[in-house]
This record gives sequence, C-alpha cells and structure tokens, in this order.
Amino acid sequence: MHISIVYTTIAAVLALGCLQVSTSEHVNKTAEFIATDEWQVVAEGQAIPKGLHVRINLQTGLKEAKLLDESERSTAIQNQSGDDDAGSTNEPLSLEYKADIIEESVRKVKQERSYAELRKAYKDFQKNFRTDGELIVQLIEQYRNFSKTPLESELKAKLNTLENLEYLLHQIDNALVFIDSGGLDDVLLPIVVNDTNADLRVSAMRVLGALAGNNPKAQIKVFERNFGSHLAQILMSSTSSSEISSAMHAFGALLRKFPLAQQRILSTSGTKALIGVLRSTEIELRTKAKVVTLLSDLVLEKRYVIEASKESSDAVSTLAQYVLIEFESWLPSHGYCDTLEAVLSKDYVHLLDQPEVVEQFTDGLENTNSLCQPLWSQSAALRHALLTMRNRFAHSQDEYRLEVSQALARLCERLYNKRSHTEL
Ligand SMILES: *[C@@H]1O[C@H](CO)[C@@H](O)[C@H](O)[C@H]1NC(C)=O
Ligand SMILES: *[C@@H]1O[C@H](CO)[C@@H](O)[C@H](O)[C@H]1NC(C)=O
Ligand SMILES: *[C@@H]1O[C@H](CO)[C@@H](O)[C@H](O)[C@H]1NC(C)=O
Ligand SMILES: *[C@@H]1O[C@H](CO)[C@@H](O)[C@H](O)[C@H]1NC(C)=O
Repeated sequence: MHISIVYTTIAAVLALGCLQVSTSEHVNKTAEFIATDEWQVVAEGQAIPKGLHVRINLQTGLKEAKLLDESERSTAIQNQSGDDDAGSTNEPLSLEYKADIIEESVRKVKQERSYAELRKAYKDFQKNFRTDGELIVQLIEQYRNFSKTPLESELKAKLNTLENLEYLLHQIDNALVFIDSGGLDDVLLPIVVNDTNADLRVSAMRVLGALAGNNPKAQIKVFERNFGSHLAQILMSSTSSSEISSAMHAFGALLRKFPLAQQRILSTSGTKALIGVLRSTEIELRTKAKVVTLLSDLVLEKRYVIEASKESSDAVSTLAQYVLIEFESWLPSHGYCDTLEAVLSKDYVHLLDQPEVVEQFTDGLENTNSLCQPLWSQSAALRHALLTMRNRFAHSQDEYRLEVSQALARLCERLYNKRSHTEL
C-alpha cells in the first residue's frame, strides 16, 4: 500500500518533468490515447485516461503508458531499468530516509527539468528502493548490530527502529517476514524479558501488539515464544500506565480468537495478572477499564462460539478448545467480582467526568454479570455507585452522557430488578 502510493507519486512527477524534455515525431497528438497491455508512447500534450501506468522510457526519453494490472503495481517500477543494483548500499535505513530520497528526486525534477537530471533522480530512487520485506530484514539486522550491553547513546536509534517496525508489521505478510527472519528472538524477546529501559519495553510491546493483531499465524509464534507469561509478568510488576497499556494491547492481540492461548495463559498467571491490575491502588481507572474490557470481550467471544455451534456441527475441535476456558471459575476464584465491586464502589466519584470510561465498565459488568451476579446484586455500595453515576449523567445535556446513563439504567435493572426505580 505504502509503496504503491510512492510509485504513483514518483511516476506522476517524472511524467510532468518529461513533458518539458521529450518530443515525439511519430504520434498523432490529437488522437485519443487507447491504452493496452503494452507500453505505448504518449505524445506531448496528449491527454490520457486516468489510472494508467505511466513511465519514462529510459532508452528513448519518451513518456509511455499502459494499462496497469493490480498485481504488477508494486513491482513494476523495479523492472524498468536494466541494471539491478538495488540493495547494494549499506547506508543507514529508516522510513524517513526513503521519504527523503523521494523528496530529493521530486525537488530535482522540479528544478532542473533536464533529461540527464531526470534520469539521475530516477536512478537514485531505484537504487534506494526496497520492498517492505527487505526493509524489515535490514531493520532486524540493524537491531542485531547494537551492542549487547545497554548504551544510552543507542537508545534513540533503537526506539526509532522499533517505531518503524511497528508501522510495517501491521501488515500480515510483513509480520510473518519479521518472525521468519528471527525478529521475535533477536529483537522483541530480549527487550520484553530483560531490558531495564521502560520506553524500550513499551515500544517493543507495541510492535508485538501490531504483529499479533488479527494474524493467527503470528499469534501462534508469539504464544510459542512464551510471550504470554512475560506480558503477565510485566502486568504484575509495573505501575506505569503506558507500560500497562501497551502490555494490555499486546496481551489482547495474543489472546483474541486464540482459545488455546486463552486456556493456557489465563488458567495460569494471566488471570491473576489482570485482576492484579484492577486491584492496584497506583493504576488509573482508565487502564483498569481496559482490563475489564478485555476480559469481557473474551467472555463474549466464548459465548458467541458456543451459541454458534448449536446451529452448525462444524468446528467441533474449536468448540472443544473454548469449552476448556473456564472463566466461570477462574474469574471469581481470582477475586474478579469483589475487586471490581470494590473499585467502582470506592472510586466512582472520579468517574463522574469520564463517561467513556464509565461506558467501558458498564459494558464489562453487563457482559460478565452472569459470573458475579450473586455478589453484585447484593452489594449496596455497588448499587449506590451505579445509581449515582446514572443519575448524574441523566441530568446532562450531552447526548453521549445520556446514552451512558441509559446503559447504566439497563444494568441496574438487570442487577437489582425493578427496585432501582423506586429508590434514589
Ligand atoms: C489524427 O487523429 C485524428 C482523430 O483520430 C484524425 O482525424 C486525423 O486525421 C489524424 N491526423 C493524422 C496526421 O494522422
Ligand atoms: C520483469 O521483466 C521480465 C522480463 O522483462 C518479465 O518477464 C517479468 O514479467 C517482469 N516482471 C514484472 C513484475 O513486471
Ligand atoms: C551491521 O554490522 C556489520 C558489521 O559491522 C555491517 O557490515 C552491516 O552493514 C551492519 N548492518 C546494518 C543494517 O547496519
Ligand atoms: C535474559 O537475561 C538472562 C540473564 O542474563 C539470560 O540468561 C537470558 O537468556 C535473557 N533472556 C533473553 C530472552 O534475552
């Protein structure tokens, strides 16, 4: 995606430049340009339809165009010049660097507009062009090159490398290239497990979240490297909001739609770690709401799979995996119900100006109510907290607060039956 945008830009700019330098003798300029799968010369000033692949033929210096096949788009430009010296340079690498090359090429084209300059700009661009895959391999290589002992002087470069990786690894194929090239073992694991710098850990966990999100193959690899218990360890020991948020993000990316990992990780340290975050006095409510949201999403996920299985007989093995996830016993036995009750009963005053956080808690309570009903429905303190928030938001002019108030009212209805209407 990124690369095809770059192509379009550079091709368009080169084409503009070309109008100034090339002339053609053999083409009927007033004729309509009929594009085919073959390159055809475009006359100076001749209009061409949008959406074609336009290039400058480096042998003749003429502008040419053809229909563009979707699958060719990302590789076509590499194929146009005979000499292939891409990848032979050892210059430091980053995404910004790539952008610089393009900008420089554009600047030259705009300023010089001579064919020689144009050609040189184009060749510079080609020489420095790399696919995402090559870029990822080089970023890993760059990381391996850092010294083994932590050096303050290298911190900024490391963070920069991780930021570039986070950007690239949202794409499924890129994430798999990273994993196959040893990125989990050589880049992420050492940081998440052993690094003493919290900023680096936060960045590494963001990369982990990016690469595991919606990527089943990557999730398996991340799980096999035991990241689940390393993340649980960080959740248990950290009090930094940014660290816990990024750990939660990575943890969620690893667990969602991956019942085996849910079963293995949440039956051991995972549940304890998550509820520990809820229990901590140092962690802000916003972050605690994320924990409730993740647990509630996973409870819902299991519920949906089991519901869906009643209608179809496929996926028996998936169903079997979900059946082994015992939220019904794990959550209450690790103190989920009383911890959440205590958090809301004690701290609800701080939520009165955070309706979006209240909404997350409300949804979470609603979805996990079946696990905690005996306790919550008997808790006067929880009831007081929920009704106070409901009433506060009900008197607002703000539409969003009114919606949250209605969600709270529905929850109270479920928890306390009709009694909520008569009291308070
Ligand atoms: C150029 O094309 C136009 C439209 O197709 C045609 O009318 C005209 O005769 C052509 N001129 C030459 C020189 O071929
Ligand atoms: C690259 O060029 C070769 C030979 O010119 C051709 O066979 C191949 O299909 C081209 N590849 C792409 C992606 O355009
Ligand atoms: C890593 O270090 C080696 C040896 O010093 C060097 O040849 C290589 O170019 C470096 N790679 C990167 C990506 O910096
Ligand atoms: C973490 O550090 C310990 C002790 O230096 C070392 O044995 C272990 O291999 C390191 N783990 C990773 C993943 O780098």
